[in-house]
Parts: sequence; C-alpha cells; structure tokens
Amino acid sequence: MLLLAAAFIVAFVLLLYMVSPLISPKPLKLPGAHVVVTGGSSGIGKCIAIECYKQGAFITLIARDENKLLQTKKEIEKYSVNDKQVVLCISVDVSKDYEQVENVLKQAQEKLGPVDMLVNCAGTSVTGKFEDIEVNCFERLMAVNYLGSVYPSRAVIATMKERRMGRIVFVSSQAGQLGLFGYTAYSPTKFALRGLAEALQMEVKPYDIYVTVAYPPDTDTPGFAEESKTKPLETKLISETSSVCQAEQVARVIVKDAIQGNFNSSVGSDGYMLSILTSGMSPVTSITEGLQQVVCMGIFRIIGLFYLGSFDSIVRRCMMQREKSESADKTE
Ligand SMILES: NC(=O)c1ccc[n+]([C@@H]2O[C@H](COP(=O)([O-])OP(=O)(O)OC[C@H]3O[C@@H](n4cnc5c(N)ncnc54)[C@H](OP(=O)(O)O)[C@@H]3O)[C@@H](O)[C@H]2O)c1
Repeated sequence: MLLLAAAFIVAFVLLLYMVSPLISPKPLKLPGAHVVVTGGSSGIGKCIAIECYKQGAFITLIARDENKLLQTKKEIEKYSVNDKQVVLCISVDVSKDYEQVENVLKQAQEKLGPVDMLVNCAGTSVTGKFEDIEVNCFERLMAVNYLGSVYPSRAVIATMKERRMGRIVFVSSQAGQLGLFGYTAYSPTKFALRGLAEALQMEVKPYDIYVTVAYPPDTDTPGFAEESKTKPLETKLISETSSVCQAEQVARVIVKDAIQGNFNSSVGSDGYMLSILTSGMSPVTSITEGLQQVVCMGIFRIIGLFYLGSFDSIVRRCMMQREKSESADKTE
C-alpha cells in the first residue's frame, strides 16, 4: 500500500515536471529592449540599470536630481556592448503628479520605443519609534514607495497589454515581508507593493506580462547609509543579525528573476526562507518553486519562531537598559 502511494506521488511529480514548461514564462530578451529604472541614479536602481545595459538594453533612468542622473549616465555608458545603445535621463518626482509621470514616460517611449521592462526602484526610508515619527513621514513614504510605483506602472501597462509582453518589477524589501522594530512608517509601504503586484499579476498574466516583487535585504547603498544614521538601537541590533549585501549582487538577482518572469525575487538564505514563509497565495512560475514551498514551509516556520524570539528579547533588553539608565539619571 505504502509502495503504491509512493509510486503515485512520484508519478504525480513527474507529470507536473512534464507540464512545467507550459506554466513557466518565456524569458525576456534584454538585447535591444527598453528598460526604465525609477530611482536609477543611485544604489540598487543604478546597479540594475548597469546590469541591463551590460546585457544590451536601452535604458531610461528616472530620478529627481539632474546632476546625479547625468553622472550615473556617464558611469553606465562605460559598460556599452554596442554603439547603438542609449541612456536617457528623466528628472521627475514619481510620487507627485500622475499626469507628469505619464507624460515623461510617453516621451521616453517616443525616443527609445515601448517599454519592455519597468523597474520601480525609487524609494526612501525613515526609521524610528512609532510615536517619534512625524505624521507627515507616513504620508510621504506611502507616496514615494507605493504611489511612486503605481504611477509609472499605470503609465506603461496599456502599451504592454497591446504588445502582449512586458515585465514590471516592484522593489519591495525584506521589511515588506515582516514588520520589525523601527519600521512602522516604511514596512507598510513595502507590504502594499506585494498586494498591488499579486492583483496586477492576475490581471496581466493572460497578456504574457510578468510581475516580479524583489525583497532586498540590507544593502550597502547611499540610501542605506542615510537610513543608518537615525536607526533606533533595537533596529540596529536586529539588522546586525544578518549581513549587508552589495548592491551589484542584489541587482544581478533582480534582473535575472525579472528576465525569467519569476514573481518572487530574494537574495541569500534568509531571503529564500522569508520568501517561502510568506508565499501565501502568491503566484508561482515553476513547479519546483511550488514544491519547495509545500515541503519547506513547516520547518522554516519553526526557524522563524526562533528568530522572532531573539528579536523580542533584543527589544526587551534595550527597554530594560533604557529604564535603568533613566532611573539612575533621576536619582543623581
Ligand atoms: N538599501 C537597502 O538596504 C534596501 C533594502 C531593501 C529595499 N530597498 C529598496 O530599494 C530601493 C532602492 O534603495 P537604495 O538603497 O538603492 O536607495 P538610494 O541609494 O537612496 O537611491 C534611491 C533612488 O531613488 C530616487 N528617488 C527617491 N525618491 C524619488 C522620487 N520621489 N521620485 C523619483 N526618484 C526618487 C533617488 O534619486 P533622487 O533623490 O535624485 O530623486 C535615487 O535614485 C528603495 O525602494 C528601497 O526602499 C533598499
């Protein structure tokens, strides 16, 4: 009986693998493709632009600071693989005015052709205790990190649907997979991207458009350095339980996953575990991915509980130390 059950499972898995090429998206060809990267003048976005350019793509960089854009353009152009390649710079705030974003993307498409891949990477972070964060920061972060991804995507989706092809990447964060001390303003904006991506993916899949959500870990970028200046001690100690990645490495993974049309894009073993743990009802793009989620979910939850326990004890320790030093100050 047991043998029969095992044979049935093996036959089922083999069958799944046989139909798997029918489920997996066709990889996007980057040579000659038009890739738009918001937040492309710095950090992860800049490295994504370089990675795509190295593979023969035409690039549109979007950010606010014109000087930074021009500097980055020069840097990227060193990696050209043919003399036809172009790097276009557009200075615009992606979070302010939809019409403006739509207009500049129209201009970019007139110059470099329809967008084949849009990478929504523009973003910013503020950390602090909930009660210490200015109320307008919650609004600003939601505007930049969430609406700043909605607007460019909304501006290119109709053309992608007409052409029945395309890739849309949302750069979320590991803080968009779990909420941590200090991230009450940032985390929700990155969780929101996941909801947007799931709903959008279901709408556009019949048009052969694939959505990728990337969950980078702490990554060495100008943005990360800025954020680190004001991180609460608890957030710093929790962050230090894993290492800081290089932006080039993160960019390579994101570009590879976007080309393949993978819904999830994560870096390293922590990233892999978090993506399995938070897979929920998210789409899969291969049988292997689905099987890994089914098999690993339980064991990863056990490991995750240990992590949560250690984070809680960091927070409790910091609180006790703070209270001790406050009462010592009072008695002096
Ligand atoms: N670094 C990390 O540890 C880490 C980890 C997880 C996720 N992420 C996410 O990855 C993305 C990139 O992060 P990063 O660390 O590489 O950041 P970064 O070095 O600070 O770069 C941010 C980029 O976004 C642009 N930008 C910011 N606000 C904008 C706006 N309103 N309109 C248009 N462009 C805007 C910036 O240019 P201008 O200022 O000139 O506009 C810059 O090009 C962000 O979404 C971030 O949340 C980062």
